[in-house]
Formats: sequence, structure tokens, C-alpha cells
Amino acid sequence: MTSFPRTVTSLACLSLGLLGAGLAAADSYPAKPITLVVPYSAGGPTDVVARTLAAAMGRTLGQTVIVENKLGAGGTIAAAHTARAKPDGYTFLIHHNGMATAPALYRKLNYKPLADFDYVSQVIDVPMTVVGRKDLPAKDFRELQAYAKAQGNKLNLAHAGLGAVSHLCGMLLTQAMGVDLTSVPFQGTGPAMNALLGGQVDLLCDQTTSTTPFIKANSVKLYGVTTASRLKSLPATPTLAEQGLAGFQLVVWHGIYAPKNTPKEAIDKFGTALRTALKDPEVAKRMADLGAIIPADDKLSPQGLQTWLEQETQRYAPVIKAAGQFAD
Ligand code: MLT
Repeated sequence: MTSFPRTVTSLACLSLGLLGAGLAAADSYPAKPITLVVPYSAGGPTDVVARTLAAAMGRTLGQTVIVENKLGAGGTIAAAHTARAKPDGYTFLIHHNGMATAPALYRKLNYKPLADFDYVSQVIDVPMTVVGRKDLPAKDFRELQAYAKAQGNKLNLAHAGLGAVSHLCGMLLTQAMGVDLTSVPFQGTGPAMNALLGGQVDLLCDQTTSTTPFIKANSVKLYGVTTASRLKSLPATPTLAEQGLAGFQLVVWHGIYAPKNTPKEAIDKFGTALRTALKDPEVAKRMADLGAIIPADDKLSPQGLQTWLEQETQRYAPVIKAAGQFAD
């Protein structure tokens, strides 16, 4: 190119023209509804967070944020779909720890979590709860452990597939409890919870954003929370660590991603709408009532999510390798 100065000049004019068009587009962004991809079923905890935020974000953006549930393969189908979507600011993905565990869990992953996305922000942290069907005879976690041992591997545990946090929690639980539980996969913990309510499965480890209403309605048995200390939203419930599983701790974190090379203006506007939504008193109260915790301000940024994802990816790799559960 350097040997053809006239071409350089016309290319420069052309790119200035395109830049102008890009800025004009950025000024009017968003000009149509935006899709927020959720990797699990409607009614589950990721969906509850996504729909609560989408409604509030839509008010700031002046456009509808449509929640699209793209199910399957422990969240990897939704992530691959978003990685390949047009990077025009109209497709985003909300995902949790599964973004960090997938590279170690899946032998063949057709996207690269650390390379194929732009980062918008961390979103919300959510504790988990171990719940059982209402008619399980065990009254507390110690009784549950003894009952599960006495049953051999007959008790079953519902989860949302390899890569789901309900699966990760189940894997950590069976190791820590020293029992075998039969694994029953669903496409999200929404349907897994329905199966628990219907008595078709015995146990589920799921996020408080999904389980809290059922716990409060007394429709499930609650055996413990997965945090280091008790939750404000469920103050009478002991942690698993208090009940013999020393050091057991699992908190779900969420992030919002865009396909790589999404215009910065779109990332900034979507991120600002998210931060505004998290400060909305109604959203903040709903999240707090469901046990969710809004992360510190430095995490609510593209860099906050990127640094965290890199750390978590490194942290999980040896844990998953040791557990030896992989998918193709
Ligand atoms: C869901 O939204 O269904 C859950 O987040 C799935 C999971 O357990 O990871």
C-alpha cells in the first residue's frame, strides 16, 4: 500500500467516511431490540436474573432487551452461538462459572472463552442451596449424609449438565460427603426443580435465585447453604461447612459477554444500562430477597470480568482434572 500514495489517500477518505457512518450508528444505538442469550431454561436462576435485569436495562436503553434461552450441553451451545453472532451490539450473552469450567470439562469446545468474546461486566453473585424433595426422611444435612450412605448410590441428584454450576456443586458434594449419587441431567435447573417438586428426583444443589421461593413456601427440604457464612436472606439455615463439610464454599458469579469486535460504544451503553439496573431500588431489593449479592464497583466493568474469568479458568482446571469428568 505504501507504494501507491493515491490509493492510500482514497482508502483514507473511504475509512473516514466509514468511521463517520460508524459514529452516526453509535449515536443512534440501540436502534432495535437487543438479544440477551441465556444458556439455560426459562424459569431457572440464570433466566430469573436475566429477565429481571433485561426489563430494567430496556428502560435505560430505550429498546427492549429480549431474553433468548438457547439450551443444551451445559451452556456451551449458547456460548458458541454468541461467539459466532454478528458483532453489531445486538447480541449479548449472560453466563456464569460455566464460562471458566468449560475449557477443562469439554475435550472439544468449538469456541474459546478467553479469546472469542468482548467483556461487558460482571453481574451478580449468587449463593447455592442444597435442597431435597419434601418427603425425604433426613431432617438435616448430617442425617442426609447418613441416609445417602445407607441407600448406596440409589439417591439421585438433578443438575443442568456438565458445565452447569448445579453439576459442579453436585460433583463437589459427592466428593465431600463420600457418597455416590446417581446423576440426572436436565437442560436447566428450572425443569430440575419441577422434577424435585414432583418427587421424581431426590436432591438438587441450585442457586438461591431459583430455590428461595420454594424454600419459603416449604415445598422442598433445605439442607444447607454453600457460602462461608450464613445468608441474610435465610438466616436460620446453617452452612454446609458448619455441618461437617469444612471449607466447602461455592458462590456463582455471572458475567455479560459480546461477540469479539463488538463496537465499544455498544459495550459501553449496555454496561451502563446494566450498572443503572443494578442500582434500581426495585431490582436491588428483588435480588437481595433472592439472596443475590451485587459485586463491588471495580468488578462491574469489562476489565473486572476479564481478570476474574482468567483467574477462575486457572483455578478450576486442576480441580476438574482431579475429578476426572469430561465430555467430548
Ligand atoms: C440455570 O439457570 O438453569 C442454572 O444456572 C443451570 C446451572 O446449574 O448452571
